[in-house]
Amino acid sequence: TDIYLAGAAGAKPRVPVDPARLEADASRAMSAAAYAYVAGGAGSEETVRANRRAFERRRLVPRVLRDVSVRDTSVELFGRRLPSPLVVSPVGVLELAHPDADLAVARAAASLGIPMVFSSQASVPMEACAGAMHTSPRWFQLYWSRDDELVESFARRAEACGCDAIVVTLDTTLLGWRPRDLELGHLPFLRGQGIAQYTSDPVFMRKLAEPLPGAAPARVRPTAAAVRTLLAMARAVPGGALRNLRTGTARAAVRRFVATYSRPSLTWADLPFLRARTRLPIVLKGILHPDDARRALDAGVDGVWVSNHGGRQVDGSIAAVDALPAIVEAVGGRAPVLMDGGVRGGADVVRALALGARAVGVGRPYVYGLALAGEAGVREVLANLVAEFELTMALAGCRSVSEIDRGCLVELH
Ligand code: FNR
Repeated sequence: TDIYLAGAAGAKPRVPVDPARLEADASRAMSAAAYAYVAGGAGSEETVRANRRAFERRRLVPRVLRDVSVRDTSVELFGRRLPSPLVVSPVGVLELAHPDADLAVARAAASLGIPMVFSSQASVPMEACAGAMHTSPRWFQLYWSRDDELVESFARRAEACGCDAIVVTLDTTLLGWRPRDLELGHLPFLRGQGIAQYTSDPVFMRKLAEPLPGAAPARVRPTAAAVRTLLAMARAVPGGALRNLRTGTARAAVRRFVATYSRPSLTWADLPFLRARTRLPIVLKGILHPDDARRALDAGVDGVWVSNHGGRQVDGSIAAVDALPAIVEAVGGRAPVLMDGGVRGGADVVRALALGARAVGVGRPYVYGLALAGEAGVREVLANLVAEFELTMALAGCRSVSEIDRGCLVELH
């Protein structure tokens, strides 16, 4: 109602309400390389499309005459009651979309009480984002570095930042094959973008001065003064941490980031390391096989996040929402199951919940809102999604998320 009333009063939305028009407008506002990085997927982008088609193949069957005048969209997750079953999926390198980057997203998410998941590849250190969110919920997404000490340092920082959970993303031990980026020769990290979580880390910065294992010592050794400047800039200038640095430190930081950011040798045997070092709930993101979900629970994790990284990693992989039912069954209510990939409207949230998800994440749409109108754009995209979810839930005949179940859906063949 608020949106219609605002319209009647002559106030126009800042960003298109329709997801396709939102993306089209954002694509014109962003540089070609930035848009390619955000919109693109792996290979032929079959899985990007499959994420949408899997939703479209499932249709809601609304029920009538059920008194939906009082509605409750809240859910409980990791000991907190959240206003809606929506979370802000971690997205790295947001400086490509807007100079306020993660800070704008943090403020927008906090204004709605929606959890933001801080990316390991953020453009703004998690401490700055947490500081902008007051007591609003936030989680931290970890890329498991080659360096154990750095993993431990990230976990400690996430705790100090008041995060409610650590989300370990497992589908990006190697960067996916992304033709759009390859054709443009564009890899943000090599330009020092999206590495602020690292350059604001005391362990990373200490190690910057050491040669990489197995590599020849860096030709340009960072001086103590350069490291201090880098640290100060990383804290002070959101998204601009490395932009103006003329010493070899920036290059050394980028080289070290690329060499340590993920560990392709990671196995189930590594999980106890993190379990022993944090009291926070651990969620595994990137689970697509029910056996992996079972294994995750055996390893003592607190949540399973069904995701194919928005189709950016394995082209031809199963759509997230197609993977969901078998994983929900394997988990059997022992832990919450989240999902993301292709969520574009309120009906998608209802459909994912009907298949057993506790909550859903949204990625690209809020980045497009950010590109078009900064914090206000992100807030509008998220607020529209929550409003459309509440409306669709009610019109489908459900008063609360607990009433959304398999009976709300049919699957087309
Ligand atoms: C991502 N995603 C992601 N995931 C993660 O765990 N850490 C990260 O740093 C990033 N970075 C990132 C950058 C960009 C530009 C995109 C589009 C995505 C994946 C993200 O969390 C989520 O799984 C997908 O974006 C969900 O799909 P939709 O909503 O974009 O379709």
